[in-house]
Amino acid sequence: MEVARTIELARIAVKAAKNAGKRVGLVPTMGALHIGHVSLIRRAVEECDFVAVSIFVNPTQFGPGEDFEKYPRPIEADLEICKKAGADLVFNPSPQVMYGAESLTWVTVEKLSEPLCGQSRPGHFRGVTTVCAKLFNIVQPDVAYFGQKDAQQAIVIKRMAADLNMPLQIVVCPTIREPDGLALSSRNKYLTNEQRKEAAKIYKSLAKCKELREAGVTDAKEIIAAMREILTQIPGGQIEYVEIVDAETLEKVDQIKGKVLVAAAVKLGPARLIDNILL
Ligand code: PAJ
Repeated sequence: MEVARTIELARIAVKAAKNAGKRVGLVPTMGALHIGHVSLIRRAVEECDFVAVSIFVNPTQFGPGEDFEKYPRPIEADLEICKKAGADLVFNPSPQVMYGAESLTWVTVEKLSEPLCGQSRPGHFRGVTTVCAKLFNIVQPDVAYFGQKDAQQAIVIKRMAADLNMPLQIVVCPTIREPDGLALSSRNKYLTNEQRKEAAKIYKSLAKCKELREAGVTDAKEIIAAMREILTQIPGGQIEYVEIVDAETLEKVDQIKGKVLVAAAVKLGPARLIDNILL
């Protein structure tokens, strides 16, 4: 496995693979890798001949007062995980390499970036789409892999790729969870043992939603109220949002008819945790 810390070296490695006729997959990450990330890398290894993983804690997607400085950066352990998972290349640039010259260009996906996490993290998705556009231009993958865990991110990226005619396929992989249902996240490391236990209630609230829906309940308000009841039982937890939205437009629905995304965000101690299910 090769590790490239400059754009030039990453391009050389990918070019060699492309010249050999290989199908190139990219898994963009911010590191602090866990088995959720590994599931994406493994899927890429299954479907591609050359897999690049990017590890870059992207400053432009963090707001003021968020955890950019504190975000874990265990690079040696991450490289080991990538190697074991079968990656061929890790692209691990510094902020200087990615944003060296003053950049005046941003990629914004309107509308889809505004609700849910966009409400509480203004500018977040602009940072995500801009860095992903840059990563796509640097690596030029045939396919890029994202997790359903960050459902809105996946929807926004898919739309960016479609709207800008980017010649790649976006694959969205299922959310990997702990045995108690908590979605794996690099930010779970911020939780105390007690908070970690309580955090399982986020998934419990989503499971409740599924249960009610299967029992024939279609009224979004009623379902959200039942979910909030579970989430308010998290000591010290602060519900940021609980919403049921159209799975494509991300517009709120009153009555569940077609495919919906049920998403929640909860602040717990120093961590902001998000999770979702598709119904
Ligand atoms: P990061 O949070 O490191 O996540 C990298 C990828 O792993 C994302 O596509 C995310 O959805 C996926 N992922 C995280 N937890 C997962 C889980 N439990 N199950 C399945 N997939 C999971 O998301 C980002 O980084 C950044 O915003 C990035 C896209 C890299 C742009 O900077």
